[in-house]
This record gives sequence, structure tokens and C-alpha cells, in this order.
Amino acid sequence: MKTDVEYLQFMWPMRHFLISCGDIDDKSNIIAASFCMPVSKEPPLIACAIGKKAYSSELIESTKEFIVNVPTKELQAKIYYCGYHSGHEVDKFKETGLTPKPARKLRAPIIEECVAHMECKVVQKFETGDKNLFVGEVIEAYADEKVVKGEKKIEYAVGDFPSKVYDTRSKNL
Ligand SMILES: Cc1cc2nc3c(=O)[nH]c(=O)nc-3n(C[C@H](O)[C@H](O)[C@H](O)COP(=O)(O)O)c2cc1C
Repeated sequence: MKTDVEYLQFMWPMRHFLISCGDIDDKSNIIAASFCMPVSKEPPLIACAIGKKAYSSELIESTKEFIVNVPTKELQAKIYYCGYHSGHEVDKFKETGLTPKPARKLRAPIIEECVAHMECKVVQKFETGDKNLFVGEVIEAYADEKVVKGEKKIEYAVGDFPSKVYDTRSKNL
């Protein structure tokens, strides 16, 4: 016998990313995001679906840029903090202790503790239900040299369906 489910539950486990946005010298923010995927190799494009009511959507709409930072498993607690709290209410860099560092090309900061960073300029935006789907061209991509050379082993942050987010918070996030 089969029973009805929340479809999202069966799209997981998924990789977790931390998207930084805003301006390092003004307002910057971090959002935990898993609705993130490569959508073209040439040009290099990444699509991220960000809740229309999320503070990050507001910042990305205004700056037209975002950075996809790749966290490891050790950062899981901070990832969930960023996923359960909004930049509308808290400064997530301050609260998590994650370090904002200048990006190569963009005004948004990279998150120093992550192993890789994709700096993206928004080239297209679609409204997809309760999300804004931002398609960003990767203008810079760089990573921890030891990880790239295979000298340092890491475990990527992966997790199950964060039901807490989708069951207890606004469906529009
Ligand atoms: C593991 C995890 C993955 C998430 N993935 C996404 C996502 O891909 N897109 C999204 O809009 N929200 C996602 N969320 C929820 C946002 O991180 C959450 O709504 C956050 O509070 C928004 O922050 P902001 O208002 O500061 O932008 C995820 C949460 C968690 C815990």
C-alpha cells in the first residue's frame, strides 16, 4: 500500500550549501540552501531557489549577486542555525561565528570556514511558486588547495529533509 506524502521528503537527502549575499561593508547574510544545482557547464551557471520572503531574496534582488559556499559536515550545527533563523531578525555571521572575508570580485563576503566558493552574478530570475529561482553565472570558483590536491579529506554536509523548516515555518519561505 502507498500513502500520500510531502513530495519534498523524498527528494532528500541533499547536499547543504551556505549562500552568502549582500555587501561585506554594509548588510550581509547567510542562508542555508539545498535547492541549488548546476544548470550549465558553458557558460557555468548555478540555479538556486530562494524563498520569496527570505531576507536573502531581498538582498540578492538588490545586488544581483550571491556566493555559493561549500560547507563540510563539521559546520552542520551552523548550517541549521542559518536555516532556522532569518537575517530579518539576526546577524547570522555574528551569531554563528562564521567569518566573512572579501570575495575576489563581488561585494558579498565569502564564508572563510567553507572549503569552496562560487561567486555568481545573477543572469536570470524566475518566479517558481513560493521561491525565486536565481540563475547565477559563476565568475570565480576557488577552493582549499589541500582538498583540491586530495591531501585533505573532507565530508560534505548532507542531511535529511529539514522538516522543522517546512512544518513549522511559513510555507512561503
Ligand atoms: C538544510 C536546509 C536547507 C535549506 N534549503 C533551502 C533552500 O534551498 N531554499 C530556501 O529558500 N530555503 C532553504 N532553507 C530554509 C532557509 O535557510 C530559511 O528559511 C532561512 O531562515 C532563510 O534565511 P534568510 O531570511 O536570512 O534569508 C533550508 C534550511 C535548511 C535547514
